[in-house]
Amino acid sequence: MHKDIESIYYSADEISAAVRAVAAEITRDYAGKNPLFLCILKGSFIFASDLIRATELDSRVDFMEVRSYGNETVSSGVITVTKDIKTDIAGRDVIIIEDILDTGRTLGYIKKMLLERKPASVKICTLLDKMVEKADNVKADYKCFDIENQFVVGYGLDYAQDYRNLPYIGILKKEVYSK
Ligand code: IMP
Ligand code: MG
Repeated sequence: MHKDIESIYYSADEISAAVRAVAAEITRDYAGKNPLFLCILKGSFIFASDLIRATELDSRVDFMEVRSYGNETVSSGVITVTKDIKTDIAGRDVIIIEDILDTGRTLGYIKKMLLERKPASVKICTLLDKMVEKADNVKADYKCFDIENQFVVGYGLDYAQDYRNLPYIGILKKEVYSK
């Protein structure tokens, strides 16, 4: 285990099983369709790569980068798209892949922006869903885990850009935040 990690919340094996289960659900729901997986950078790149490989569908992939300014552990609600997609999504089934749904402000903003481009549908697939109140009735259509309201890192999720490479999801030691 990494020296800065206090405890493991979800192990690599638990994550892998949950990701395969969600991929199977998406494969069933989108049978005969060709969805566009929209990976939200940077946090969801590891989840997206495992999830998409576990689906058995013809599909496409694109990437959008958004930033929600705030301090390192609390999102501010001010969202800026730093990299938009070039794919024309009119008439397409879009599945947004996100690492964690917290207040829902980030996904609420992205979903609204995408809907203006007239896709056939927009669904949200998140690795983690924090048990906190959501803005704008945002909810996950697919999720791997519910998680208590605490800050986690690993499997793509960062703290100040670190720890994304950890193969598990864990909680940082308190002293890391005061460094
Ligand atoms: P929301 O807009 O409040 O839903 O925030 C979602 C974004 O905040 C995610 O895409 C993450 O980048 C970040 N975030 C929220 N909670 C955590 C966490 O526990 N660990 C790492 N990043 C988090
Ligand atoms: Mg982040």
